[in-house]
Amino acid sequence: VISQDVQVQGRSFPRDDFSNVTAKILQRVGANLHNEPHHPLWIIKERIKEHFYSSYMGRWGNPLFSVHDNLSPVVSVEQNFDSLLIPPDHPSRKRGDNYYINRSTMLRAHTSAHQRELVRQGLDAFLLAGDVYRRDEIDSSHFPVFHQMEGVRLFSDHELFSSVDGGQHLSLFEDSGRRCGQKQEVHSLEAVTLLQFNLKNTLTRLVHALFGPGVELRWVDCHFPFTHPSFELEVRFQEQWMEVLGCGIMEQQILNSAGAGHKAGWAFGLGLERLAMILFNIPDIRLFWSRDPGFLQQFRVTDIHQPISFKAVSRFPPLHNDISFWVPDSFCPQDFFELVRCVGGDLVEQVTLLDHFTHPKTGRRSECYRIVYRHMERTLTQEEVRQTHAAIERTAESELGVTGRY
Ligand code: PHE
Repeated sequence: VISQDVQVQGRSFPRDDFSNVTAKILQRVGANLHNEPHHPLWIIKERIKEHFYSSYMGRWGNPLFSVHDNLSPVVSVEQNFDSLLIPPDHPSRKRGDNYYINRSTMLRAHTSAHQRELVRQGLDAFLLAGDVYRRDEIDSSHFPVFHQMEGVRLFSDHELFSSVDGGQHLSLFEDSGRRCGQKQEVHSLEAVTLLQFNLKNTLTRLVHALFGPGVELRWVDCHFPFTHPSFELEVRFQEQWMEVLGCGIMEQQILNSAGAGHKAGWAFGLGLERLAMILFNIPDIRLFWSRDPGFLQQFRVTDIHQPISFKAVSRFPPLHNDISFWVPDSFCPQDFFELVRCVGGDLVEQVTLLDHFTHPKTGRRSECYRIVYRHMERTLTQEEVRQTHAAIERTAESELGVTGRY
């Protein structure tokens, strides 16, 4: 019997025309890899916690930042988007990019979904780690479930300016301000300058603590609907700049709606897999889900700061197979990726669009994808891959209405 409801962690939600979360994804909810002692994601989380605990004390010597790592990934669409001022027509809301339980409920796409509720609880400085869900492309650094750590810090007038000479005369807010590239309309330029300094300083110190003081980093201007100004931090790793986090000065409207309108603050969100892949030299994001003792054993250290030299679990050879089909107008590549994930499971390492063309006479559109298959723990046989590939072909025809060109 196919249930009309979507069941998640013992709760039941009515299905509707927006529901697109699959059983495969729901199986991962509750795994909480970031809370599993000695898991590489747990080690990164613990190192970050410890850095913040030891570097930032409250007035009584208590840790300034509180840590939250057990909030349910099931959130309202309002929390994930509206509470962060993400407009109704914003591309990040696309059904093709998110896992909707139904029109009003989803698996969070970022830990920022909880900013407002934690600020509303009265918290001034917090870290929040959790699993997040996105229907991304398929390759060695993307997986539909990954983990983020959010950080928020708020300041009152006094907290921000008391350390500055003459600071008692300065104010976070000004009445006649204008929004520009540097600041929001309500903030004073001196407030933003100090907030931004504190934000960049905090994150630079974190990255130095994680990667060592020799690491090269750079700030890139960017845009988020919930911060202004906004930045991305990139770290140089193996001759390449890798984006590790997004951050910025929180939109004041969010703080107003959370009952903290007399404070201003910053927020950041970083990807735990990204950091772990760089720090431990982990070549493939699927390895975080491995139960292979050969993988997990390497992280069984007694002290989280002990260096870990990851020896790649032997990589078995890949096999690839192409698939081309005529696509209907309604076709969206994310639906195909999702189907490949459901049918091919973890055997699929990568899916890339090789080629597409539109027939000059009929106007029909054709697309060709390459699917790379690789098992993490053994060598795949041609026969196995052939069967999975054929199942993908069949399912794509029946579920997506494509016409195979094999
Ligand atoms: N939520 C953003 C993301 O997932 C990251 C971010 C968090 C940016 C907080 C700014 C402030 O990409």
